[in-house]
Amino acid sequence: MNILLTGGLGFIGFFVSKLILEKGYNLIVVDNLNNYAGKFNIIFKNERLKELISIYNKNKTKNNNYFNFLKLDLTKDLKLLEEEIKKVSKIDITIHLAAYPGVKYSLKYPQKYIKNNIIATQKLLDFINKNELIDKKIVFSSTSSVYDGNKLPFKEDNCITNFLSPYSYTKFCCENMLKTYHKIHKLNVIILRYFTVFGPYNRPDMATFNFFYNLLKSKPIYINGKDISRDFTYVENTALATLNSINLLKDNSNIFEIINIGSDNPIKVIDYVKTIFKVANKETKLIIRDYNPYEMKSTWADITKAKNLLNYNPNTNIEDSLKITFENLKKYIK
Ligand SMILES: NC(=O)c1ccc[n+]([C@@H]2O[C@H](COP(=O)([O-])OP(=O)(O)OC[C@H]3O[C@@H](n4cnc5c(N)ncnc54)[C@H](O)[C@@H]3O)[C@@H](O)[C@H]2O)c1
Repeated sequence: MNILLTGGLGFIGFFVSKLILEKGYNLIVVDNLNNYAGKFNIIFKNERLKELISIYNKNKTKNNNYFNFLKLDLTKDLKLLEEEIKKVSKIDITIHLAAYPGVKYSLKYPQKYIKNNIIATQKLLDFINKNELIDKKIVFSSTSSVYDGNKLPFKEDNCITNFLSPYSYTKFCCENMLKTYHKIHKLNVIILRYFTVFGPYNRPDMATFNFFYNLLKSKPIYINGKDISRDFTYVENTALATLNSINLLKDNSNIFEIINIGSDNPIKVIDYVKTIFKVANKETKLIIRDYNPYEMKSTWADITKAKNLLNYNPNTNIEDSLKITFENLKKYIK
């Protein structure tokens, strides 16, 4: 099995890469190593690459003998990618995680989201569609942010009409683009709507990283709204669901599915922070501010479909997962 993974040195991409290599598949990772979210992001991407090379060296066998990281911007010429694919003869499945993530940053720099989410996806889909070296099978990472305005828990067949940020409308635009490619060009598609992911090497612009950072630096922690809640999902669960999507794509032709990947266990952000205090055995000042107009007040995934189609069973305990996250992050937050 030959997999092409975009955004493979990002937060979630790294955990997906790990599982792919452990499974013994061949893997080409494409990432432009952008410096979104500053210095920790660069440090984490380098650490992730080192870890992946070591996992690959441990797992490689006679039949599983290819892993390469290609530094490439998907909005540019993809000729290099074509050359790279020839080394494994062809790609069976593409997992497209590369994107500009983050709601807040998208309000300031919407053009980066148009470019790296919409244009990059369009170019990749065109490349897949026209290239005989790639099977027409793709997994795409979308987001719970598209659900704004819907009743909890969010279901895949909810009506998507409200967008609080360029991030969410660019992701929904990609979903629609994929639907067109499915209908017109017979592309097989699985769209995973991820719900707030956390874990080791946590993306540094996300709340989990900032909570640990401020706690370790003895700075106050801010929460935007006393009742705000999230369906926090441990990254290993997200990654496993993504890996399992490969089987669903492999075993089906003419498939288009949208699947929530959350925990079905929403918790108030205040309680999440208190659990962080507990695992770190340290407290800091908690300041409640007003709600942000660009943030959803609550998220909660109905994961019935993921359970049925992907054998998804996110049974990790939030406190244990935060302990693992803390052990990892405290090595970097000095
Ligand atoms: N982390 C979450 O909670 C979450 C929630 C919902 C959806 N998602 C989606 O999951 C995916 C992965 O998220 P993440 O948290 O790992 O983000 P991330 O920023 O850590 O990873 C994305 C990676 O894509 C790369 N990239 C961006 N633009 C690129 C381009 N033009 N060409 C090549 N590479 C490019 C970046 O360098 C980065 O390493 C994203 O599509 C994101 O929108 C994440």
